[in-house]
Amino acid sequence: MNFKSVIWKLGLTIMILFLIVLLPFGFSTYRIFSGVYSTQVHENVNELSLNLSKTSEAPNENQATFYEYLSTITEKDIILVDKDGKVLSNNNLSAFKKGKNIPKELYLRLRESKHFERGYTDPKTKEYFFTVGRPILENGKFEGGILVFSSIDAIHRSLHNVRNWILITIIGSIFLALGYTLFVSKKLSSPLIKMEKATRAIARGNLETKVNITSKDEVGSLAQAINDLSIELNNYRKNRSEFLANISHELRTPTSYLKGYAQLLKRHQYKNKEELESYSSIIESEAERLAKLIQDLFELSKMEEGRLELYLQHVDLEEIIEQSIKKVMLKAREKNLDLSYNIQDELPLIFSDGSRIEQVLFNLLENAVNYTEKGSIYLSAWLEKDYICVLIQDTGVGIPEDELPFIFDRFHRVEKSRSRKMGGTGLGLSIVSEIIKLLQGNIEVQSKSQNGTSFLVRLPLDSTEEKSNDEI
Ligand SMILES: Nc1ncnc2c1ncn2[C@@H]1O[C@H](COP(=O)(O)OP(=O)(O)O)[C@@H](O)[C@H]1O
Ligand SMILES: [Mg+2]
Repeated sequence: MNFKSVIWKLGLTIMILFLIVLLPFGFSTYRIFSGVYSTQVHENVNELSLNLSKTSEAPNENQATFYEYLSTITEKDIILVDKDGKVLSNNNLSAFKKGKNIPKELYLRLRESKHFERGYTDPKTKEYFFTVGRPILENGKFEGGILVFSSIDAIHRSLHNVRNWILITIIGSIFLALGYTLFVSKKLSSPLIKMEKATRAIARGNLETKVNITSKDEVGSLAQAINDLSIELNNYRKNRSEFLANISHELRTPTSYLKGYAQLLKRHQYKNKEELESYSSIIESEAERLAKLIQDLFELSKMEEGRLELYLQHVDLEEIIEQSIKKVMLKAREKNLDLSYNIQDELPLIFSDGSRIEQVLFNLLENAVNYTEKGSIYLSAWLEKDYICVLIQDTGVGIPEDELPFIFDRFHRVEKSRSRKMGGTGLGLSIVSEIIKLLQGNIEVQSKSQNGTSFLVRLPLDSTEEKSNDEI
């Protein structure tokens, strides 16, 4: 057993508390009992001796019989003494035999008409008595005395019993406290031990571990927190390994292209100048893709770790939109797509990061151009409460409904080959959604396969203000 455990500390505290309460309680109960008993005896003996001494006449043999009788009914030894100090009544005390004189000291005290109280131990039986002696006076003249002896032994026996009962109660309570401690320790320690084992298993990497505790108290919620932690860690591990697998796959493709075409060039395995140029441009575009992939990954990891710094200032969204449109215009023309936009008059300046917004709009417009074969791309922007909304619609291939929840995931692409042909890395929308999150905006997508796609971006007028979700 671990004596340093919380349970032992708790148990010891309970026991000490019991003792702190019970010991003084027991002691004072004992004192009260013994006090009550001895006062009672003192008063009793005093009263009896006083009454007897007052009502007695000059002691004689006849009276002695009455006192002997009185002794048996009061269970006290009452001794009648004549004026010379001689004992007149029979009694059980060895030193006060009938016909003998009482000790001189006591006799002198009675003679002086004084009463006395003292303890007395019978030399033979060793029984202890409380004694009161009083003189008998007739018209102020000393005629004899009365001694009343009350045995204290019976009281001592009763007090002894009381003390025993108090001790038994204290010992019983200590055993009760021990039992209770054991019960509490079982109740408390078993979930704690379970949770300790579970967290150690999680620390060893066994992330499927679950703690099965359903109590509704703090212990239960701690167990729930451990379960949530293991789920979260498990998801993180899965995501990380998926991510690493994706990265290595994405890097392998362009590098194998680079290697293959570079080898062709090195071995002069081309027929003419056109072929040489086409191989070189493949190498160039694959190198570009690789650079873009690395750049995108770098940006994403910075965003996810919260290391991306925003440069917030008042920016004109109209300017940014025009800038982004310009960047994709050439590609749209090449594909014969109609690219147009409409911005609400006098849009207010927004306090945000202009170059990050341009990155978002450029990514969305680039996707619209890439995934549209014929038709148009249309951008519109307007003010709505504390937000500026930017809608980008296209008439392209669209996204199947079951793919929609995943398009913001890293490396998720509906058609790999088409994306690759367009120079995509599968990271564009992930970057878009991370930037929008940082700028405290939101993004929604609507699309139907073969029916075009629309992305709606909402940007707050001030990206430094915390917005509650229902406001958006
Ligand atoms: N406007 C769009 N129309 C159709 N599909 C789109 C559109 N925008 C994005 N997608 C789909 O979402 C995927 C993820 O987009 P993105 O993250 O930008 O990666 P990619 O590098 O492939 O463009 C794309 O591969 C494409 O399948
Ligand atoms: Mg893209």
